[in-house]
Amino acid sequence: MDGVTDHPYRYIQKKYGNPDVVYTEFTSVEGVCHGADRLLQDFLFDETQRPIVAQIYGTTPQFFRETATLLCQLGFDGIDINMGCPAKNVAHSGAGAALITTPDLAKTIVTQTKAGVTDWAEGKSAINCSHISETIAKEVQKRHTALPAEYQSRNQVIPVSVKTRIGYDKPMAAEWVQHLLEVEPAVIALHGRTLKQQYSGLADWDEIARAAEVIKHTNTLVFGNGDTKNRNHAVELSQKYNIDGVLIGRSSFGNPYVFLPEGERPKKNIFQVALEHTQLYQDTYAHHERYSFLPMRKHLGWYVRSIPNAKEVRRQLFQTNTTDDVKHVFLAYNLL
Ligand SMILES: Cc1cc2nc3c(=O)[nH]c(=O)nc-3n(C[C@H](O)[C@H](O)[C@H](O)COP(=O)(O)O)c2cc1C
Repeated sequence: MDGVTDHPYRYIQKKYGNPDVVYTEFTSVEGVCHGADRLLQDFLFDETQRPIVAQIYGTTPQFFRETATLLCQLGFDGIDINMGCPAKNVAHSGAGAALITTPDLAKTIVTQTKAGVTDWAEGKSAINCSHISETIAKEVQKRHTALPAEYQSRNQVIPVSVKTRIGYDKPMAAEWVQHLLEVEPAVIALHGRTLKQQYSGLADWDEIARAAEVIKHTNTLVFGNGDTKNRNHAVELSQKYNIDGVLIGRSSFGNPYVFLPEGERPKKNIFQVALEHTQLYQDTYAHHERYSFLPMRKHLGWYVRSIPNAKEVRRQLFQTNTTDDVKHVFLAYNLL
Protein backbone atom coordinates (compact mmCIF):
# COMPACT_ATOMS: atom_id res chain seq x y z
CA MET A 1 0.00 0.00 0.00
CA ASP A 2 1.37 3.31 -1.15
CA GLY A 3 3.04 5.31 1.61
CA VAL A 4 2.52 2.45 4.08
CA THR A 5 3.99 -0.96 3.24
CA ASP A 6 7.65 0.00 3.05
CA HIS A 7 10.51 -2.21 4.23
CA PRO A 8 10.27 -1.34 7.98
CA TYR A 9 6.49 -1.79 7.99
CA ARG A 10 6.62 -5.18 6.25
CA TYR A 11 9.43 -6.34 8.55
CA ILE A 12 7.36 -5.51 11.64
CA GLN A 13 4.13 -6.98 10.24
CA LYS A 14 5.88 -10.19 9.31
CA LYS A 15 7.73 -10.49 12.63
CA TYR A 16 4.67 -9.93 14.84
CA GLY A 17 1.73 -11.04 12.67
CA ASN A 18 3.30 -13.43 10.15
CA PRO A 19 0.95 -12.78 7.19
CA ASP A 20 1.24 -15.51 4.53
CA VAL A 21 2.45 -13.07 1.89
CA VAL A 22 3.35 -9.38 1.80
CA TYR A 23 3.34 -6.83 -1.05
CA THR A 24 5.52 -3.76 -1.62
CA GLU A 25 4.02 -0.33 -2.23
CA PHE A 26 3.03 0.07 -5.85
CA THR A 27 5.85 1.49 -7.95
CA SER A 28 5.73 3.13 -11.36
CA VAL A 29 7.37 1.24 -14.22
CA GLU A 30 7.60 4.55 -16.09
CA GLY A 31 9.54 5.93 -13.10
CA VAL A 32 11.88 2.93 -13.00
CA CYS A 33 12.48 3.06 -16.77
CA HIS A 34 13.01 6.84 -16.78
CA GLY A 35 15.90 6.46 -14.34
CA ALA A 36 14.28 7.41 -11.01
CA ASP A 37 16.79 5.47 -8.90
CA ARG A 38 15.14 6.63 -5.63
CA LEU A 39 12.29 4.22 -6.52
CA LEU A 40 14.62 1.31 -5.75
CA GLN A 41 13.90 2.20 -2.13
CA ASP A 42 10.41 0.72 -2.67
CA PHE A 43 12.03 -2.59 -3.57
CA LEU A 44 14.09 -2.93 -0.36
CA PHE A 45 13.33 -6.05 1.65
CA ASP A 46 15.10 -8.66 3.73
CA GLU A 47 14.84 -12.44 3.85
CA THR A 48 12.44 -12.44 6.82
CA GLN A 49 9.68 -10.99 4.61
CA ARG A 50 9.36 -13.90 2.18
CA PRO A 51 7.26 -14.67 0.29
CA ILE A 52 7.30 -11.09 -0.94
CA VAL A 53 5.56 -9.72 -4.01
CA ALA A 54 6.58 -6.50 -5.78
CA GLN A 55 3.66 -4.43 -7.00
CA ILE A 56 4.05 -2.23 -10.09
CA TYR A 57 1.83 0.08 -12.10
CA GLY A 58 1.93 2.04 -15.33
CA THR A 59 0.77 1.98 -18.95
CA THR A 60 3.82 1.10 -21.07
CA PRO A 61 4.05 -2.64 -21.83
CA GLN A 62 7.78 -2.52 -22.65
CA PHE A 63 8.51 -0.87 -19.30
CA PHE A 64 6.56 -3.63 -17.52
CA ARG A 65 8.70 -6.18 -19.32
CA GLU A 66 12.00 -4.59 -18.33
CA THR A 67 10.89 -3.90 -14.75
CA ALA A 68 9.82 -7.55 -14.45
CA THR A 69 13.34 -8.67 -15.39
CA LEU A 70 14.77 -6.28 -12.80
CA LEU A 71 12.39 -7.61 -10.10
CA CYS A 72 13.45 -11.20 -10.82
CA GLN A 73 17.06 -10.12 -10.44
CA LEU A 74 16.21 -8.51 -7.08
CA GLY A 75 14.92 -11.89 -5.90
CA PHE A 76 11.20 -11.20 -5.49
CA ASP A 77 8.85 -14.18 -5.14
CA GLY A 78 6.14 -12.68 -7.34
CA ILE A 79 5.11 -9.64 -9.36
CA ASP A 80 1.71 -8.03 -8.98
CA ILE A 81 0.26 -5.54 -11.46
CA ASN A 82 -1.89 -2.80 -10.01
CA MET A 83 -5.12 -2.36 -11.96
CA GLY A 84 -7.05 -1.03 -8.97
CA CYS A 85 -5.70 2.36 -7.95
CA PRO A 86 -8.40 5.06 -8.28
CA ALA A 87 -6.11 8.06 -7.49
CA LYS A 88 -6.44 10.78 -10.13
CA ASN A 89 -2.70 11.08 -10.79
CA VAL A 90 -2.62 7.34 -11.59
CA ALA A 91 -5.98 6.66 -13.25
CA HIS A 92 -5.92 9.83 -15.40
CA SER A 93 -2.81 8.53 -17.12
CA GLY A 94 -4.64 5.31 -17.96
CA ALA A 95 -2.92 3.25 -15.25
CA GLY A 96 -4.34 1.56 -12.12
CA ALA A 97 -8.10 1.05 -12.19
CA ALA A 98 -8.39 2.92 -15.52
CA LEU A 99 -7.05 -0.26 -17.17
CA ILE A 100 -10.48 -1.79 -16.53
CA THR A 101 -11.67 0.38 -19.45
CA THR A 102 -8.85 -0.74 -21.76
CA PRO A 103 -8.82 -4.54 -21.48
CA ASP A 104 -6.57 -5.00 -24.54
CA LEU A 105 -3.85 -2.85 -22.99
CA ALA A 106 -4.37 -4.60 -19.64
CA LYS A 107 -3.83 -7.98 -21.30
CA THR A 108 -0.73 -6.79 -23.18
CA ILE A 109 0.69 -5.55 -19.89
CA VAL A 110 0.24 -8.97 -18.26
CA THR A 111 1.75 -10.73 -21.28
CA GLN A 112 4.74 -8.38 -21.38
CA THR A 113 5.35 -8.69 -17.64
CA LYS A 114 5.41 -12.46 -18.03
CA ALA A 115 7.79 -12.05 -20.97
CA GLY A 116 10.12 -10.04 -18.71
CA VAL A 117 10.14 -12.95 -16.24
CA THR A 118 10.98 -15.35 -19.08
CA ASP A 119 13.73 -12.96 -20.27
CA TRP A 120 15.33 -13.30 -16.83
CA ALA A 121 15.05 -17.10 -16.87
CA GLU A 122 16.73 -17.07 -20.28
CA GLY A 123 19.73 -15.04 -19.13
CA LYS A 124 18.79 -11.37 -19.48
CA SER A 125 19.48 -8.89 -16.64
CA ALA A 126 18.62 -5.25 -15.92
CA ILE A 127 21.90 -4.20 -17.55
CA ASN A 128 20.63 -5.62 -20.89
CA CYS A 129 17.35 -3.68 -20.70
CA SER A 130 17.47 -0.65 -22.98
CA HIS A 131 15.35 1.63 -20.76
CA ILE A 132 17.00 0.84 -17.44
CA SER A 133 19.80 3.23 -16.49
CA GLU A 134 23.27 1.98 -15.70
CA THR A 135 23.01 3.40 -12.15
CA ILE A 136 19.86 1.37 -11.49
CA ALA A 137 21.22 -1.77 -13.17
CA LYS A 138 24.40 -1.61 -11.06
CA GLU A 139 22.48 -1.22 -7.81
CA VAL A 140 20.20 -4.11 -8.78
CA GLN A 141 23.22 -6.31 -9.50
CA LYS A 142 24.73 -5.34 -6.13
CA ARG A 143 21.56 -6.42 -4.30
CA HIS A 144 21.36 -9.57 -6.41
CA THR A 145 24.87 -10.62 -5.40
CA ALA A 146 23.89 -10.27 -1.73
CA LEU A 147 20.92 -12.68 -2.09
CA PRO A 148 21.10 -16.22 -0.66
CA ALA A 149 22.40 -18.84 -3.11
CA GLU A 150 18.98 -20.20 -4.04
CA TYR A 151 17.96 -16.80 -5.41
CA GLN A 152 21.11 -16.47 -7.50
CA SER A 153 19.96 -19.11 -9.96
CA ARG A 154 17.54 -18.40 -12.77
CA ASN A 155 15.59 -21.62 -12.40
CA GLN A 156 12.55 -20.13 -10.76
CA VAL A 157 9.90 -18.56 -12.96
CA ILE A 158 8.02 -16.31 -10.55
CA PRO A 159 4.24 -15.81 -10.79
CA VAL A 160 2.62 -12.68 -12.22
CA SER A 161 -0.67 -11.61 -10.65
CA VAL A 162 -3.19 -8.76 -10.95
CA LYS A 163 -4.87 -6.70 -8.24
CA THR A 164 -7.94 -4.87 -9.45
CA ARG A 165 -11.47 -3.68 -8.61
CA ILE A 166 -14.91 -5.03 -9.44
CA GLY A 167 -15.49 -2.36 -12.09
CA TYR A 168 -14.88 1.19 -13.25
CA ASP A 169 -18.17 3.04 -12.75
CA LYS A 170 -20.41 0.03 -12.15
CA PRO A 171 -19.81 -3.52 -10.89
CA MET A 172 -18.88 -5.84 -13.78
CA ALA A 173 -16.36 -8.16 -12.14
CA ALA A 174 -17.36 -11.39 -13.93
CA GLU A 175 -17.04 -9.73 -17.35
CA TRP A 176 -13.77 -7.97 -16.48
CA VAL A 177 -12.05 -11.09 -15.13
CA GLN A 178 -12.97 -12.98 -18.34
CA HIS A 179 -10.59 -10.62 -20.14
CA LEU A 180 -7.81 -11.11 -17.61
CA LEU A 181 -8.19 -14.88 -17.66
CA GLU A 182 -7.25 -14.91 -21.36
CA VAL A 183 -3.67 -14.10 -20.30
CA GLU A 184 -3.66 -16.47 -17.30
CA PRO A 185 -2.43 -14.44 -14.34
CA ALA A 186 -1.44 -16.61 -11.35
CA VAL A 187 -3.85 -14.69 -9.10
CA ILE A 188 -6.60 -12.14 -9.59
CA ALA A 189 -7.19 -10.16 -6.40
CA LEU A 190 -10.43 -8.19 -6.37
CA HIS A 191 -11.17 -5.21 -4.16
CA GLY A 192 -14.97 -5.17 -3.88
CA ARG A 193 -15.46 -1.54 -4.93
CA THR A 194 -15.52 0.24 -8.28
CA LEU A 195 -13.08 3.01 -9.18
CA LYS A 196 -15.95 5.48 -8.90
CA GLN A 197 -16.62 4.43 -5.31
CA GLN A 198 -12.99 5.04 -4.34
CA TYR A 199 -13.16 3.90 -0.68
CA SER A 200 -16.79 4.82 0.05
CA GLY A 201 -19.58 2.40 0.95
CA LEU A 202 -18.90 -1.23 1.74
CA ALA A 203 -16.94 -3.75 -0.30
CA ASP A 204 -19.34 -5.85 -2.39
CA TRP A 205 -18.36 -9.43 -1.61
CA ASP A 206 -21.30 -10.88 -3.60
CA GLU A 207 -19.79 -9.26 -6.70
CA ILE A 208 -16.40 -10.75 -5.80
CA ALA A 209 -18.12 -14.15 -5.47
CA ARG A 210 -19.67 -13.81 -8.96
CA ALA A 211 -16.20 -13.30 -10.42
CA ALA A 212 -14.80 -16.11 -8.27
CA GLU A 213 -17.34 -18.44 -9.84
CA VAL A 214 -15.86 -17.68 -13.29
CA ILE A 215 -12.26 -17.95 -12.09
CA LYS A 216 -12.86 -21.22 -10.23
CA HIS A 217 -12.75 -23.26 -13.44
CA THR A 218 -9.25 -22.05 -14.38
CA ASN A 219 -5.69 -22.33 -13.03
CA THR A 220 -5.86 -18.79 -11.68
CA LEU A 221 -6.42 -18.22 -7.96
CA VAL A 222 -8.86 -15.62 -6.70
CA PHE A 223 -8.35 -13.38 -3.67
CA GLY A 224 -10.99 -11.07 -2.20
CA ASN A 225 -10.31 -7.73 -0.57
CA GLY A 226 -12.15 -5.01 1.28
CA ASP A 227 -13.12 -4.22 4.89
CA THR A 228 -11.64 -7.37 6.41
CA LYS A 229 -11.13 -6.99 10.16
CA ASN A 230 -8.58 -9.71 10.94
CA ARG A 231 -7.37 -13.19 10.03
CA ASN A 232 -10.43 -14.99 11.39
CA HIS A 233 -12.73 -12.69 9.47
CA ALA A 234 -10.62 -13.40 6.36
CA VAL A 235 -11.02 -17.15 6.83
CA GLU A 236 -14.79 -16.73 7.26
CA LEU A 237 -15.05 -14.64 4.11
CA SER A 238 -12.97 -17.01 2.02
CA GLN A 239 -15.20 -19.93 3.07
CA LYS A 240 -18.45 -18.04 2.63
CA TYR A 241 -17.57 -16.68 -0.82
CA ASN A 242 -15.54 -19.67 -1.99
CA ILE A 243 -12.30 -17.87 -2.72
CA ASP A 244 -8.65 -18.85 -2.33
CA GLY A 245 -7.45 -16.02 -0.10
CA VAL A 246 -8.08 -12.59 1.32
CA LEU A 247 -5.89 -9.49 1.29
CA ILE A 248 -5.95 -7.42 4.47
CA GLY A 249 -5.15 -3.73 4.15
CA ARG A 250 -6.20 -0.92 6.46
CA SER A 251 -6.96 -3.01 9.53
CA SER A 252 -3.26 -3.90 9.70
CA PHE A 253 -2.25 -0.24 10.15
CA GLY A 254 -0.56 0.03 13.53
CA ASN A 255 -1.61 -3.54 14.31
CA PRO A 256 0.36 -6.51 12.96
CA TYR A 257 -1.64 -8.72 15.33
CA VAL A 258 -4.62 -8.73 12.92
CA PHE A 259 -2.80 -11.52 11.08
CA LEU A 260 -2.61 -13.83 14.11
CA PRO A 261 -5.00 -16.80 14.33
CA GLU A 262 -7.66 -16.42 17.04
CA GLY A 263 -6.31 -17.43 20.43
CA GLU A 264 -2.65 -16.82 19.58
CA ARG A 265 -1.25 -14.35 22.07
CA PRO A 266 0.63 -11.29 20.86
CA LYS A 267 4.36 -11.56 21.58
CA LYS A 268 4.92 -8.00 22.78
CA ASN A 269 3.26 -4.85 24.07
CA ILE A 270 2.15 -3.02 20.91
CA PHE A 271 3.94 0.18 21.92
CA GLN A 272 7.21 -1.70 22.17
CA VAL A 273 6.49 -2.95 18.66
CA ALA A 274 5.85 0.67 17.60
CA LEU A 275 9.17 1.70 19.10
CA GLU A 276 11.00 -1.09 17.28
CA HIS A 277 9.26 0.01 14.07
CA THR A 278 10.41 3.60 14.65
CA GLN A 279 13.99 2.53 15.28
CA LEU A 280 14.03 0.42 12.11
CA TYR A 281 12.50 3.29 10.13
CA GLN A 282 15.26 5.60 11.38
CA ASP A 283 18.03 3.05 10.73
CA THR A 284 16.74 2.34 7.22
CA TYR A 285 16.22 5.89 5.98
CA ALA A 286 18.09 8.41 8.18
CA HIS A 287 21.17 8.38 5.92
CA HIS A 288 19.05 9.11 2.82
CA GLU A 289 19.41 12.53 1.25
CA ARG A 290 15.75 13.51 1.54
CA TYR A 291 15.10 11.84 4.90
CA SER A 292 11.94 12.84 6.71
CA PHE A 293 10.43 11.50 9.92
CA LEU A 294 6.91 12.62 8.87
CA PRO A 295 5.79 9.31 7.28
CA MET A 296 6.65 7.53 10.55
CA ARG A 297 4.39 9.86 12.55
CA LYS A 298 1.41 8.58 10.56
CA HIS A 299 2.19 5.02 11.72
CA LEU A 300 2.56 6.21 15.32
CA GLY A 301 -0.90 7.76 15.11
CA TRP A 302 -2.26 4.38 14.05
CA TYR A 303 -0.51 2.52 16.88
CA VAL A 304 -2.26 4.62 19.51
CA ARG A 305 -5.68 4.88 17.87
CA SER A 306 -7.46 2.53 20.25
CA ILE A 307 -6.21 3.90 23.57
CA PRO A 308 -8.56 6.10 25.64
CA ASN A 309 -6.53 9.34 25.41
CA ALA A 310 -5.49 8.73 21.78
CA LYS A 311 -6.04 12.32 20.68
CA GLU A 312 -3.74 13.79 23.29
CA VAL A 313 -1.01 11.14 22.80
CA ARG A 314 -1.22 11.54 19.02
CA ARG A 315 -0.75 15.29 19.34
CA GLN A 316 2.49 14.64 21.25
CA LEU A 317 3.63 11.96 18.80
CA PHE A 318 3.09 14.33 15.88
CA GLN A 319 5.81 16.58 17.35
CA THR A 320 8.43 13.80 17.47
CA ASN A 321 11.47 13.51 15.20
CA THR A 322 13.47 10.60 16.58
CA THR A 323 13.02 7.21 18.26
CA ASP A 324 14.10 8.78 21.54
CA ASP A 325 11.38 11.42 21.26
CA VAL A 326 8.81 8.67 20.71
CA LYS A 327 10.10 6.71 23.68
CA HIS A 328 9.70 9.77 25.91
CA VAL A 329 6.07 10.18 24.87
CA PHE A 330 5.30 6.50 25.43
CA LEU A 331 6.96 6.61 28.86
CA ALA A 332 5.13 9.79 29.80
CA TYR A 333 1.82 8.01 29.19
CA ASN A 334 2.93 4.73 30.84
CA LEU A 335 2.60 2.85 27.59
CA LEU A 336 5.89 0.94 27.86
C1 LIG B 1 -3.19 4.58 2.04
C2 LIG B 1 -3.56 3.50 1.05
C3 LIG B 1 -2.65 3.11 0.10
C4 LIG B 1 -2.96 2.09 -0.80
N1 LIG B 1 -2.02 1.71 -1.72
C5 LIG B 1 -2.27 0.66 -2.52
C6 LIG B 1 -1.28 0.16 -3.40
O1 LIG B 1 -0.15 0.70 -3.50
N2 LIG B 1 -1.58 -0.92 -4.14
C7 LIG B 1 -2.80 -1.54 -4.07
O2 LIG B 1 -3.03 -2.55 -4.74
N3 LIG B 1 -3.76 -1.10 -3.26
C8 LIG B 1 -3.52 -0.01 -2.50
N4 LIG B 1 -4.50 0.42 -1.64
C9 LIG B 1 -5.79 -0.29 -1.59
C10 LIG B 1 -5.72 -1.43 -0.58
O3 LIG B 1 -4.75 -2.37 -0.97
C11 LIG B 1 -7.06 -2.17 -0.44
O4 LIG B 1 -7.43 -2.63 -1.71
C12 LIG B 1 -8.15 -1.29 0.12
O5 LIG B 1 -7.69 -0.48 1.18
C13 LIG B 1 -9.33 -2.14 0.61
O6 LIG B 1 -8.91 -3.14 1.52
P1 LIG B 1 -8.98 -2.93 3.12
O7 LIG B 1 -10.40 -2.59 3.46
O8 LIG B 1 -8.53 -4.24 3.69
O9 LIG B 1 -8.06 -1.80 3.44
C14 LIG B 1 -4.23 1.46 -0.76
C15 LIG B 1 -5.16 1.87 0.20
C16 LIG B 1 -4.85 2.88 1.10
C17 LIG B 1 -5.87 3.29 2.12
